[in-house]
This record gives sequence, structure tokens and C-alpha cells, in this order.
Amino acid sequence: MNGHSPTVWESGRTMIIGSMGFIGRFITEASLECGRPTYLLIRPDLASLSRTSATKAFKDRGATIIHGSVDDQDLMEKVIREHKIEFVISAVGGESIADQVKLVSAIKAAGTVKRFLPSEFGHDIDRAEPVEPGLTMYQKKRQVRRSIEEAGIPYTYICCNSIAAWPYHDNTHPADVLPPLDRFQIYGDGTVKAYFVAGSDIGKFTIKSIDDDRTLNKTVHFRPLSNLLSINELASLWEEKLGYKLPRVTISEDDLLAAAKEMLIPQSVVAAITHDIFIKSCQINYSMDQPTDVEVCSLYPDSPFRTVDECFNDFAIEIIGSNPKLVNKPVTKNGIMMPNPKQEALFITA
Ligand SMILES: NC(=O)c1ccc[n+]([C@@H]2O[C@H](COP(=O)([O-])OP(=O)(O)OC[C@H]3O[C@@H](n4cnc5c(N)ncnc54)[C@H](OP(=O)(O)O)[C@@H]3O)[C@@H](O)[C@H]2O)c1
Repeated sequence: MNGHSPTVWESGRTMIIGSMGFIGRFITEASLECGRPTYLLIRPDLASLSRTSATKAFKDRGATIIHGSVDDQDLMEKVIREHKIEFVISAVGGESIADQVKLVSAIKAAGTVKRFLPSEFGHDIDRAEPVEPGLTMYQKKRQVRRSIEEAGIPYTYICCNSIAAWPYHDNTHPADVLPPLDRFQIYGDGTVKAYFVAGSDIGKFTIKSIDDDRTLNKTVHFRPLSNLLSINELASLWEEKLGYKLPRVTISEDDLLAAAKEMLIPQSVVAAITHDIFIKSCQINYSMDQPTDVEVCSLYPDSPFRTVDECFNDFAIEIIGSNPKLVNKPVTKNGIMMPNPKQEALFITA
């Protein structure tokens, strides 16, 4: 064991599963940032240089590293019991969603956990009904919800909506990629709105909610009005940062459905969910009328959300860092604003 003494048990011991992943790293950052006793369950058999250094960085900041896999029910029970884990946050990816049912059994058997947050971090999967293969993923998440409820484990479901980045319909992790530098792909007529939340805020508000009595057995919806934008508005905002216009190409409903039908995993899952967001309005087509619904801004009115404008500033700074000429230097042809040819190289390497 490292990080925490086995004899002095601090309260709030939190185990995060998936800390090396896209969403999990934001949650881990937030947990360490606010000084929680943080335990990271990491799969041992996939060593790489970047994982080793990321693990070391978390360990240096006080995290306790535990090796194991969420589908090893006996190990999970042992780990939770031995470390007296009180909070479990899972951010496992698509391929391991169903394995969380074993984790639920382990949590029930260990008996120390005061709150479990399963891997959700998107839409309200009991309300949304995307086309396949998005639906199969949602059905697995629903199965996890039902197993938690049947086991009587205290829970919170985090529905944080979209991450603040350009919503590529073929990329699972859009915030790892810069917004477009050659052309915008606009879904449908581009007017349907969605909530775009900074990864750091997904982490921050997830951690805030885990030992809040008001979120016990509730679904926490992230609906900051300042982050509610259409894809047309996102495009205009990004053009402001670049200092020039980009061409817009329409991706129709049929295009998204065709991409979903290809059944490529994970790209077709992303296409199905993109269809649900930007064609079927799944983030805004319901009101929070269930007794289990709570909204994060009303829970924490004094904690601001990062705006999409701020997040796009970060992307612009990233571009300036790699090639300042790409920002505010429009290329014109016959007086018409054109994409800068240098952008393509950056786009490919981004
Ligand atoms: N709102 C959004 O915009 C958005 C975007 C993306 C994802 N999501 C949601 O967020 C959740 C996490 O997705 P993600 O894309 O962040 O996943 P990810 O990047 O694939 O990361 C998954 C993490 O879980 C770990 N993991 C997987 N199987 C495991 C197992 N059996 N035991 C222990 N650890 C395991 C992985 O470990 P290794 O490093 O060993 O592989 C990795 O660290 C999902 O529910 C997804 O639907 C939401």
C-alpha cells in the first residue's frame, strides 16, 4: 500500500476506476485537487510509458494505486473492504460497462460504500433512446442502474451532457482534438442546442456531488445555461477565435444514420449519439419532472462553470503555441476568405 497509512483511516476514502481514461482523469484531478483520500484502481497488465508516468504523477499527489480489474468480483470486494472504501466512482469505457454489474455485487458484499457513481457521464439513459448501436450501450448502462437499485446501494447518476469541444461525430474523445481548421461539419440545420461542459467541471461537480445528501439516489443533470449552444453558434465562436470564416458542410440526418448503421465500434456509437443530440434534441427535449432529478446549478449556485468561450480560448492558445500564423491570419482568394492551407497539416497532426 502507498499514499495513505493503513492505520489512520481518513473519512471520504474514494476509489476511482478508469483514472487513465478520458473522463476518469478529470474526476481524479478533481478528487486530488480537493484533498480527498483517493484510491485509483488501475489495470496492471497494460503498462506503457505514458501510463507509468501518469500513474506516478497521481501517486506523487497522494493517490494510492491499487492494481486490479473491475470484472474480478472477489478482488473488488477484498479491495473495497480492506481499504474501507466509502465512495466508488467508475469511469470505465464502453467495452467494460456491463462488467460493472460484478462491481455492484462486490460493493454490496463489502458493505463499506456510502455512495456509488457508475460510469454514466453523458445523457439520462433512462430517457434517451438513440438508434443502434448507441441503444445497446444505453441498455448496458440501464442494466447497471437496475442492479444498483435492486442491491439497495446508495447511488448518484451523473448526466453531464456533452464535453466542451467540437462534437466530431466519429471521435469518442473530442476534447483531445482541436476544433476544425479546414471546414465545419454541421449536423442537420445546426440549430439544435446542447450543453457543452468543460472536462474540469465534469470532474469538479462530480466530486462535489458524491457526499452531498441532496444527490443521494438522484440523477444529477448538468444544465448550465451559459453552456447551452447550437452547433452553428459553436462554429461562429470558433471563427471568432481563428479570426476568419471556414466553409460549412451539412451532415444530414441520413448521413448520421448511415454512419450509425455501419456498426463500427466505437465510431457508430458516437454517430448514433450525435444523431440523438443534434437531430432528436435528446439533451433538451424533456423537463426535469421526476422526484429523482436534480440540477447541478441549483445545487451549487456559487460555483461557476467554465464557459465554452473559455474552453475555445484554450484550444486557440494550443494552436498559437504550435503555429501562431494559423490564428488571425486569413487567407483570401479573389477577396473571399479561405481556409489557410497550413491548417491541414496541423489538423492531421492534432
Ligand atoms: N459526455 C461526454 O462527452 C463523454 C465522452 C466520452 C465518454 N463519456 C462516458 O464516460 C464514461 C467513460 O468513458 P471514457 O471515454 O472516458 O473511457 P476511456 O477513455 O475508454 O477510459 C476508460 C478507463 O476505464 C479503465 N477500464 C476499462 N476497463 C476496466 C476494467 N475492467 N477494470 C479497471 N479499469 C478499466 C480503462 O483502463 P485502461 O487504461 O487499462 O484501458 C481506462 O482508464 C463512459 O460511460 C462514456 O460513455 C462521456
